[in-house]
Amino acid sequence: MTEVEIATGTARDDIKQLQRDYLFPCLSTYYADPLIPVAADGVRLRDADRREYLDLFAGILTTSVGHCHPDVTEAVRAQASELGHTSSLYVTEPQARVAERLAEITPGDLRQTYFTNSGTEAIETAITLACCHTGRSEIVSLRHGYSGRSALAQDLTALSSWRPLGRRIAGITQVSAPYPYRAPFDYGSEEELVDFYMSELEDVISTTTTGKPAAFIAETILGVGGYIVPPRGYFQRAAEMIRSFGGLLIIDEVQAGFGRTGDHWFGIEHWDVEPDIMVMAKGVANGYPVAATIATPDVAASWTAKTISTFGGNPVCMAAASATLDVLAREEAPANATARGAQFMEGLRQLQDRHEWIGEVRGLGLMIGVEIVEDPKSKRPDGARAAALLGAAREEGALVGLGGLHGQVLRIGPSLLITEAEVAEGLERLARACAQVSD
Ligand SMILES: Cc1ncc(COP(=O)(O)O)c(C=O)c1O
Repeated sequence: MTEVEIATGTARDDIKQLQRDYLFPCLSTYYADPLIPVAADGVRLRDADRREYLDLFAGILTTSVGHCHPDVTEAVRAQASELGHTSSLYVTEPQARVAERLAEITPGDLRQTYFTNSGTEAIETAITLACCHTGRSEIVSLRHGYSGRSALAQDLTALSSWRPLGRRIAGITQVSAPYPYRAPFDYGSEEELVDFYMSELEDVISTTTTGKPAAFIAETILGVGGYIVPPRGYFQRAAEMIRSFGGLLIIDEVQAGFGRTGDHWFGIEHWDVEPDIMVMAKGVANGYPVAATIATPDVAASWTAKTISTFGGNPVCMAAASATLDVLAREEAPANATARGAQFMEGLRQLQDRHEWIGEVRGLGLMIGVEIVEDPKSKRPDGARAAALLGAAREEGALVGLGGLHGQVLRIGPSLLITEAEVAEGLERLARACAQVSD
């Protein structure tokens, strides 16, 4: 890790003051005393106080191969010295090559990609494309879902804390999240629960839309919502349901993609479902701004109006994506996510045995949520203890995230290359943090 010479107390306070003076106050940062990272390497991150942390949140699940991976850094350096920008008005090999790679690893006949700079834009592209293809305008999304920060994405999002205004976009309707821990009744089997969600989906489409929706959009694991894993069979049935109404299935893999959930490249592959459109971002380029909307050729052909993206497909970002995908494949990231995820879950379940305020430990691969409740019987969300735990984890030298409607879910999503020893270290740090916030 390189030394960075800004770690004087004055400089730190200056930076915080600059942030307060010149950035929007709504730009929410973690911790009462915000963290100022200055350098990072792999799963280690150092702040302006020269404190080192184990980064278990990876810039919101984005540094998929670890901070400043040398292959990615070198690819960026080489491309930036050769050709830094073109706009989408020209054809570039880096963009075409990444699109080819995505077609190879995504499920089914998903083949043609539109590159943008953020998950939000990729969602916008997916929704517009679904509307172009079907000639319809209504969309069904999931409660507890998060889609981004444009007007459309805010309205698709169904978490009140992330919506600054009332609804502005017509034609969006929402159904219950497939959230087994908070199921509305005591279910006997996952099938029974899926039956419930499907009858609700059918009812919502039939009663709150014209009965002709353009698409159903869902995250495979709800991320900001608190790493909610749907019951088995949910996605097969949801795909059948939306298609029975003539709509498309849009799957958001912004958080769950690129090996994060273990065994497969994409979360939806756990359920053997082929979406019509898929949205990706975050982990694809290890922190460089790349997002992608991929569709079947038939669907992609439906967008006939002109459209450009000045920065989308930028050669430097594409070089970062290529290098990241190379490393993920070479290091067998999906298999590592399975193994290290299992290790993490086992350790966290031992912590759950010790602390009854840990209501549930859930997840797939290295996308793990720890839901904090007042007590296991009432399951009332305990956002205050979760926030205290976030701070205690920092004090113990571990960075994690928060999610859930009430901020009650601790989110863990480190680099997919994390080692066994690093997971063990993370568990020790989190155990100490849990002890700190226990009564
Ligand atoms: C599932 C999901 N979709 C979309 C987005 C929006 O992505 P971005 O912040 O890159 O615009 C996010 C961001 O966290 C996300 O988690």
